[in-house]
Amino acid sequence: MEPSILVTGGAGFIGSNFIRTWLEESQGSVITVDKGTYAAGSNNLAGLAADRRLRFVAGDIADRGLMRELLGEHRPAAVVNFAAETHVDRSILFPEEFVQANVMGTFNLLDEVRQYWKGLPSAEKDGFRFLQVSTDEVYGSLPLDELPCDESKVPAPNSPYAASKAAADQFVRAFNQTYGLPTQIARCCNNYGPYQHPEKLIPLMIHKALREEPLPIYGDGKQTRDWLYVSDHCAALRSLIESGRAGELYNISARAERTNMEVVSTICVLLDERCPRKSGSYAELIAHVADRPGHDRRYALDSSKLVGELGWRAEESFESGLEKTVRWYLANIEWVTAVADGGAYKDWMAVNYVQRRSR
Ligand code: DAU
Repeated sequence: MEPSILVTGGAGFIGSNFIRTWLEESQGSVITVDKGTYAAGSNNLAGLAADRRLRFVAGDIADRGLMRELLGEHRPAAVVNFAAETHVDRSILFPEEFVQANVMGTFNLLDEVRQYWKGLPSAEKDGFRFLQVSTDEVYGSLPLDELPCDESKVPAPNSPYAASKAAADQFVRAFNQTYGLPTQIARCCNNYGPYQHPEKLIPLMIHKALREEPLPIYGDGKQTRDWLYVSDHCAALRSLIESGRAGELYNISARAERTNMEVVSTICVLLDERCPRKSGSYAELIAHVADRPGHDRRYALDSSKLVGELGWRAEESFESGLEKTVRWYLANIEWVTAVADGGAYKDWMAVNYVQRRSR
């Protein structure tokens, strides 16, 4: 029988996609712990309710008693830590929540995992993995004339979110160096795809366009992000758990740099083709608004290490992935509506966007 894994933050965007593909491709079981913040969709794992290999536990990774109990009961061969506060704009307004969730949460989890791992028989100890799901944002903004950065770049986080993820990464590294815990850190670029919360650029724009609302571009919209379809990220994480080296850091990217304006314009073209407005293009809804403070101009990752060591390759191009994503949102409007009609989302729209109008 294949061993089980413990996945934190499994009701979130990337966590739920990861669990779905893991269960499709493996015989093993998955225990997931999720705190159920605003970002955890109650429907994200709905299609898996009948799969008896999945156990969902509502809880916080900082709850050491709970984590101890779950680790002891399920004896996972790997822990994958997706649990995090992830939205940069929220971190600017509420930085402390990011320290609690991302730094203290990761620390408490790591410390419990360390105790559990120490008690494993030596054969299982070496094969165990603690995989920290991190982000390219920890590297800070990359100048336009520089090559995509590899893992040797020294972190220079610029937002409270990025700082909290960088701090968590340092604890993961320290637990490997000090206690020998077989950790890995994966730093991925911007993800997109099904079940992404509509606070993030791509689903936000699709959702607002369909409601005929202005499409808010921060500043000049020439900031670039490096985009990866979520299932390609999940496949990379899986190969890291199965074959990646312990104590290592891996970047994950398929080198698809696009400016925000390019991304939003492409979404508008895809929507124009699939559900045209009564007149004109969705691009007419684009509205430049006040920029994000400390907004990083560019992220771009070199993932030659991952490709060279594990042979990982992305299956989707940015164009094919974005087309799939638009199709998914059009086919799942009720999923987006359930999130967007909730009070928490409306409050966030008011807090984040009203102050930006006067540009
Ligand atoms: O790079 C990886 C990171 O990607 C992850 O670690 C984060 O958790 C994830 O949220 C994402 O961060 P970004 O800040 O890049 O994602 P977001 O979707 O918020 O914004 C993408 C770009 O679009 C960014 O340059 C800001 C811009 N933007 C965003 C929003 C929400 C706009 O112009 N207008 C908007 O309304």
